[in-house]
Amino acid sequence: MNKPKIIVTRKWPTAVEDRLRALYDVRLNESDIPMTADELKTALQTVDALLSTVTDPITADILSVPNKRVKIIGNFGVGYNNIDIEAAKKEGLVVTNTPHVLTDCTADIAMLLLLMSARRGSEGDRLVRNRQWRGWAPTHMLGQKVTGKTLGLIGFGRIAQAMARKAHYGFGMKILCYAPHAPTPESLKEYQATYYATVDEVLAESDFISLHCPGGAATKHLINEQRLKLMRPSAHLINTARGDVVDSDALIRALKERWIAGAGLDVYEGEPNVVPGFLELDNVALLPHLGSATEETRVAMGNRVLDNIAAFFAGKEPGDRVV
Ligand code: DGY
Repeated sequence: MNKPKIIVTRKWPTAVEDRLRALYDVRLNESDIPMTADELKTALQTVDALLSTVTDPITADILSVPNKRVKIIGNFGVGYNNIDIEAAKKEGLVVTNTPHVLTDCTADIAMLLLLMSARRGSEGDRLVRNRQWRGWAPTHMLGQKVTGKTLGLIGFGRIAQAMARKAHYGFGMKILCYAPHAPTPESLKEYQATYYATVDEVLAESDFISLHCPGGAATKHLINEQRLKLMRPSAHLINTARGDVVDSDALIRALKERWIAGAGLDVYEGEPNVVPGFLELDNVALLPHLGSATEETRVAMGNRVLDNIAAFFAGKEPGDRVV
């Protein structure tokens, strides 16, 4: 029997690419240059599986290309807002993602950003590198204490709960959360968390806000000017979810005019472009979408995609099917 034909849209960890080569008739992307819309369309016409990443916009237009051969899209990422899921469903395609394996690493990055923002980590690093540090002083670069403060989580899925665990048990933080559906009493009890039925209440009551909701139309600009104004002037906003959950222009104004004290961002609207206003501000810590970027996690994500497509080609239900 012929091996299924596969295209991988970006460079993946070598260990996973080796497995792909051994199992499939695969075209890898050694150059790691993202594919154009036309290249993605051609890929859908020529392969059985397209292995995309969160940086490939798989739009309704791309998915509606005629004479498709593709049957499954294995997305390398837990988020799949890069794919028009309704269109994929309409086209009868199976789509899978990679949950679980990136939970802790993404929560670690959220915690890192929280600490960087509270303790002015990026600013201090810049000062030392620019040879502007004049030595220790009682009032130099004072930040805010993290231990014992209140962390508000927007979303209470796996990554939010991993963050709750680290913050509550590691830093003695009080946990508040909002989610569209009330979490189970057991999951709240585990972190002694308090559930609020509105985003606004969590924003008003927290010293730190960490966003853990999916991207897409339903959460676009969930954090807007009006909501930023509900936060405490001493509060910090951490975003490791998706860039478009936050209205960037409103956040820049909030940071500039000190409606809030600081922010830590790993994701951006229209990334890899970053709204220039952020680059001019000292009170924002900026990372280049590193949430899941550890050796262990990226290999595990790739293996998870392989497990999903192996199940599919064996006629079984892929474990991480989203449609
Ligand atoms: C995801 O998996 O959705 C991340 O954003 C990529 O690390």
